[in-house]
Amino acid sequence: MNKLFHIKLKKLNKYYINVLIILTIVIAFSLGWNIYNESTHHKNAALEHARNSFVKDLMFRKWVASHGGVYVFPTEKTSPNQYLAHIPDRDLITTTGKKLTLMNPAYTLRQLMEDYEGMYGAKGHITSLKLLNPRNKPNDWEIKALKLFDSGKQKEFHEFLSKDGKKYIYYMKALVTRESCLKCHKQQGYKVGDIRGGVSITIPMKKYNDDMYSAIYKIVLAHLVFYIIAILGLFYTYKNLKISLIEQEKLYEENRRKEEVMLAQSRHAAMGEMISMIAHQWRQPIAIIAMWANNITADIDMDEIDDENFKKYAFNIVTQTEHLSQTIDDFRNFFRPDKKREKVLIKDVMEECLSVIGKSLENNNIEIEKNYQSDNIAKIHSRELMQVYINIIKNAKEAVIERNIKDKKIIIDIYEDKNHIITTIKDNALGIDEGIMQKIFDPYFTTKNVKIGTGLGLYMSKTIVEKHLNGTISVKNTEDGACFTVILPKDKK
Ligand SMILES: Nc1ncnc2c1ncn2[C@@H]1O[C@H](COP(=O)(O)OP(=O)(O)OP(=O)(O)O)[C@@H](O)[C@H]1O
Ligand SMILES: [Mg+2]
Repeated sequence: MNKLFHIKLKKLNKYYINVLIILTIVIAFSLGWNIYNESTHHKNAALEHARNSFVKDLMFRKWVASHGGVYVFPTEKTSPNQYLAHIPDRDLITTTGKKLTLMNPAYTLRQLMEDYEGMYGAKGHITSLKLLNPRNKPNDWEIKALKLFDSGKQKEFHEFLSKDGKKYIYYMKALVTRESCLKCHKQQGYKVGDIRGGVSITIPMKKYNDDMYSAIYKIVLAHLVFYIIAILGLFYTYKNLKISLIEQEKLYEENRRKEEVMLAQSRHAAMGEMISMIAHQWRQPIAIIAMWANNITADIDMDEIDDENFKKYAFNIVTQTEHLSQTIDDFRNFFRPDKKREKVLIKDVMEECLSVIGKSLENNNIEIEKNYQSDNIAKIHSRELMQVYINIIKNAKEAVIERNIKDKKIIIDIYEDKNHIITTIKDNALGIDEGIMQKIFDPYFTTKNVKIGTGLGLYMSKTIVEKHLNGTISVKNTEDGACFTVILPKDKK
């Protein structure tokens, strides 16, 4: 597995973990928010219950106060109220001689609260810091609330507290003195508008808490289910992405291996071509060497030994062996692993290529026409570009020979536009059949005999130009034959 794959995998893992973290944060936030809302909602409902309870009591008090109290028949439980003794009409006798006694709002309300406490789910208590009736004595919490009312800061107070392991809402609202209250409370020194005390309401939170816990349970369950589904979905996507990444990598590796094999095959094919070219180029100097050696033998046979002549023969033989040696060097350079890009003149690369392949063209009577109009430099692997040129020219050579063209010709143009150096190589072998035009750059596509063609020449040329030299290669048919165009970027500096 290559480095890029590991980087991609690392990125995928990081992305997955980030999405997981974000998802967890969002779900945790949503859970917290919903639980908070639910608990606020139930607390508000309990508070509303307490307020309603107070309003109900207040309505009743107002009604009693608006009638100046109510007269009832005294019983053991409802005896004449000693704290109303200052009121002249506290006790009356009806025309039929029955006794009636006065109940003021506080008295009636206390009795209601004591007798029917359970019916409304709320326990009420009317109380004050300045008591008329000591039975209405406030507890510690009520004292705290009453003191707050007295300070004038607020007229309503509530708290959620636990008592004996149970939770309650404690609510209290101030009672403000009105005209109708003065009948009973004037003697305590109250004026209209004074805070006279308050009514406290205590409601157990059990029902509200039970409802709240059941709602929270549903919320937690829904979030948990969603979270599990989201994580499974995420994991599934992650797994699929990872599998496709591994498959991509395998495909890439396979292609790379194939490419390597093809490169090696093409190198071998090119090497074979080179050997035959060396042979071509050696044929001429070897023939010349043989000729001078024959001359020496003939002179000896004819007893015409002349030092000057012998020197000339030897010099010519040495010159030819130097040429043989130079040819070997040229080809060795061509196969030298050359991975460093160098700044080169494209026409120099072409010239070097022709110095290798030129002789073989000459021997096959192929005329070469060269038009060089670019003195620009490209930064490339020059040996690789040579391989491309050799492949194209070799194809042109093979085409003109195979089709028996009379005046065999290859035209090479090198010119430039603003950013590119362009090489075109044209032949007069009548062109490429339009039916195979799309396939000639495919690997192993050949129309030649297996002994001549492997079908790798143009594929490798395309690979080299596009992947190594950042250029493009294309082909079209002209009137006379095929025209290959290689476009390379200019070196900017
Ligand atoms: N100048 C040309 N004129 C006509 N046909 C051509 C020319 N150049 C290429 N072709 C066609 O394109 C095919 C593919 O060329 P390519 O160089 O890839 O393979 P090849 O020459 O058949 O074999 P290799 O180059 O591996 O020895 C050739 O078989 C030939 O049919
Ligand atoms: Mg070829």
